[in-house]
Parts: sequence; structure tokens; C-alpha cells
Amino acid sequence: MMTYSSTQDLISTLPREEGMHSAYSYQYQGFWYSPLRLQGLIDCQQHFQARTDDIFVVTSPKSGTTWLKSILFALINRETCSPQDPHHPLLKIPPHQLVPFLELLKPSDYDSVSNSSDSSITRIFGSHIPTVSLPESIMEKGKIVYLCRDIKNTFVSLFHFIKKANIRPSPISLDNAFDLFCRGASISGPVWDHILGYWKESLERPNKVMFMRYEEMTDEPHVQLRRLAHFIGKPFSQEEENSGLLDQIIKLCSFDSMSKLEVNNSGKLIGKIRNDSFFRSGVVGDWKNYLTEEMASKLDRITEEKFCGSGLSMT
Ligand code: A3P
Repeated sequence: MMTYSSTQDLISTLPREEGMHSAYSYQYQGFWYSPLRLQGLIDCQQHFQARTDDIFVVTSPKSGTTWLKSILFALINRETCSPQDPHHPLLKIPPHQLVPFLELLKPSDYDSVSNSSDSSITRIFGSHIPTVSLPESIMEKGKIVYLCRDIKNTFVSLFHFIKKANIRPSPISLDNAFDLFCRGASISGPVWDHILGYWKESLERPNKVMFMRYEEMTDEPHVQLRRLAHFIGKPFSQEEENSGLLDQIIKLCSFDSMSKLEVNNSGKLIGKIRNDSFFRSGVVGDWKNYLTEEMASKLDRITEEKFCGSGLSMT
């Protein structure tokens, strides 16, 4: 078993870059991580065993993880907890605590995750791990819901998150962050490779990996909620459809309601990241307020080049 000090030894051999949200980031299996995330990832690779029907919410950071975690939690637990219940856990506990990030858990805590009241679904985890580094048991036994977002919005959201979370030793400029992002050295980047990995898996194993987009969740939440419910094996009954349950889940998990809750405006996630860092504007197309035309075209150009021939289009 690799100990913490030997992971440190491994880290010292890896390519290193200036970090976007930590002093340095390290390249491991083709993707970039802060030391904390990398330690967590290596722990997962060595110790995590998925159980049949565990569900994984996987994203590249700032693609809407918080939103999707909330929706899945509400969806899976809807029989024991009505989204209209004034004591619903989502009103009292931050989404990232209800649905923890796998790679931020200690191995001794994997088994204590218990966030599904549905006997056919074991546990719900979040993760930013790319396909190439996923522990094998996840693909074998679990189901993955992958959410991506327009790359320009993802970058702008990431830049603001880094500023708001204030976890970097010194502030980073927009230009510097943009350069690191374009070169792939962002958190769990390159974002394009991250997305492509799950896109291809969703085509090859549609029963295992479902591919979603933030913008589609915004435009057609009912359609996406039905897709999600069907994918996890809990489709809505006619009675649930008629009762307005979909509207209730959408409302409970909406940016407006989640971002105003006291619980999401206080406290911190692991490390020093404040819970309110995960809520900013939730607006599609907000990149126009921050990126120059040149920056936007550069991101579009990289996206087109990277996705060329994959059948995936995001520009
Ligand atoms: P913006 O910075 O564009 O506002 P993640 O959850 O992956 O960290 O992504 C954070 C982004 O999702 C932020 O985007 C945040 O505002 C937005 N977000 C958080 N909760 C949301 C919700 N309930 N509905 C829609 N967007 C949400």
C-alpha cells in the first residue's frame, strides 16, 4: 500500500506547473491536480471499491456539479423526502456535504457514505476524476452521470471561483488563468479531454454513462429530469408527473432557492473553500461580460479542434 510519504515521492517526479487554485499543480495520467486532489485520487485508485448501483456525478469543475448533486439527491430520495418538505435535507445541509466528492474523502470514510434512501441505489458520490484515472470498479458496478458546460462559461466560472474561494497563495490575473486553462493546466484539465473521455464512454456504454449539458438543464429542465430519472432506474410514475413533483424538484434545486439558503451562505467545504463560492450567477452566456473577442475565439478554436470528428459540438 502506498503511504502518504510515497505519494509525495511520486508527486515529486511529476511535471509541475503554476497552479490555478494552489501554488502548484501536477500532471498525472495526462491531467492536472492540486496536491490535495492528487492525494485523494491516488487513494481512490488504491482503496475505493464501488458497489453495485453506486451513482457518480462526474464533472469538470464549474460545470454545474452543485446543481446536479442537488437534483440527484432530491430525485433519489423523493419517496422518503418530499421536495416540499420544510425539513428537506437540501434546505439544511450543503449539497457537497450530502453528496461528497470521492477524492476529498479519506479511504476510511468511503463506507460511511449513506445518502440514498432507495434500496436499489447504494451511494451517491461526486467526482472530477477523468475516465483514464477512474478506479475500475466504478465503470464495472456503478452508473455515471456526466455533466459538461459551454467551455467559455466554464472558464469564467472557474476564474471567479478561484477569486472568491481565495485559496491560492496569491491572486491570479484573468490573463494568467486563461493561459493556464488553454494549455490544459486547470483543475482536472485539460477540460476538453475530460469531456471527450466521458462523451466517448456515453456512446459506447449508454447504460453506464449518461452525458448531460448545463445549458440543456437550463433550457429544458423537465426533459432532462425525466432522462435522469430513467437512467438511474427510477422513472417518474404518471401519478408523480401529475402531482407536480418535477416542478417541485426543479424549484427546490434552482439557483434562486439554493443560493439564498443560509446553509449555502455559511461554513466551508473541506480545506478553506467557503460554501458560498459554489454560487455566483448561474447565468448562461455570462462569459460575454468577461472575455474579449479574441479570448472567446481562441477557446472556440481549441474546442473545435479538440472535438473534431467526435460527433460532439460545443461552439
Ligand atoms: P457561475 O459561476 O457561472 O454562476 P460547480 O457546481 O461545478 O462548482 O459549478 C458552479 C457553477 O454552477 C456556478 O456558475 C454556479 O453559480 C452554478 N450553480 C450553482 N448552483 C446552481 C443551481 N442550483 N442552478 C444553476 N446553476 C448553479
